[in-house]
Formats: sequence, C-alpha cells, structure tokens
Amino acid sequence: MSLQRTFSIIKPDATRRNVTGAVNKMIEEAGLRIVAQKRIQMTEAQAQEFYSVHKERPFYGELVSFMISGPVVVQVLEGTDAVATYRGVMGATNPADAEEGTIRKALAESIEANSVHGSDSDENAAIEIAHFFTEDEIVG
Ligand code: RTP
Ligand code: MG
Repeated sequence: MSLQRTFSIIKPDATRRNVTGAVNKMIEEAGLRIVAQKRIQMTEAQAQEFYSVHKERPFYGELVSFMISGPVVVQVLEGTDAVATYRGVMGATNPADAEEGTIRKALAESIEANSVHGSDSDENAAIEIAHFFTEDEIVG
C-alpha cells in the first residue's frame, strides 16, 4: 500500500448530462484526491492514440467517435493504491454488471457510454498522465 497516481477521464456522456460533479463526489468519497484537472475537447488523433490498444476490436471506430462527441474532463487522482481504488469505484465496464455504489452503476448509460475511464496499471497511469499533463500542472 502506497500513495500512487492514476489517470481519469470523465467521458462525453457524463459531461453532456452535467454529472461531472456527481462523478467527482464519488471519487473524493473513495479517498482519492484530484490533483490535476482540465476540461478539453479531444481530437480524433488523440482518441485514436489513447485507445490504440483496442484498434483491432470491432468497437474501436465507434469508441473513438464517442470519445470526441463532446468535451471530456481529464484528471490525475492521487491516493493509496490509486489505480486499484479508482478501478473499484468505477465499477465493471458494462454498467449492467457493475456493483451498487460504483460510478458506472449509478451513472453510466451503456457499455460504451460508461461515464469514466481509469488506468489499468501503474505503468499505463504514468504514460496516460504524461499525455495530458506536465508535472507542474499536477499540484497535490
Ligand atoms: P476504460 O479503458 O475506458 O477505463 O474502460 P475499461 O478498462 O473498463 O474497458 P476496456 O476494455 O479498456 O474498454 C475501453 C472502453 O471501450 C468501450 N467499450 N465498448 N461496445 C463494446 O462492446 C465496448 N466494449 C468496451 C467502453 O467505453 C470502455 O470503457
Ligand atoms: Mg481499459
């Protein structure tokens, strides 16, 4: 158990429904601190690059279109075991499978429009954070 950082995106379905505060309330109640934050419109190239691990999957094109369909909020979260803690509060990818008390259970619309992204490893967290923030934009 140690203090870690993870990367979070509040996805376009959530910004569209004006529930970014509801998402962040659940993040903060899980003991995570938002140490960097900005609202951006992702470019197609950014979304393609961000989800390039999924480029062979059938849903890749739709996923990229969804991620650029409106603004997103990119954030760095800090806390004890941040990667695992945030994945826990996010809930399962498909909201139909997500547990009570998770962000996706409470707020997600579908397996694609599932309100939030979270890094899946410390290594990917560092890579994803560096894509969107410089070190001097992260203030704990
Ligand atoms: P994320 O990367 O966004 O945190 O989500 P995740 O780890 O829970 O899920 P992942 O398997 O990495 O999938 C990335 C995102 O792709 C969309 N998706 N659509 N239509 C589909 O079957 C499908 N499956 C996944 C979701 O937006 C998912 O979060
Ligand atoms: Mg993922």
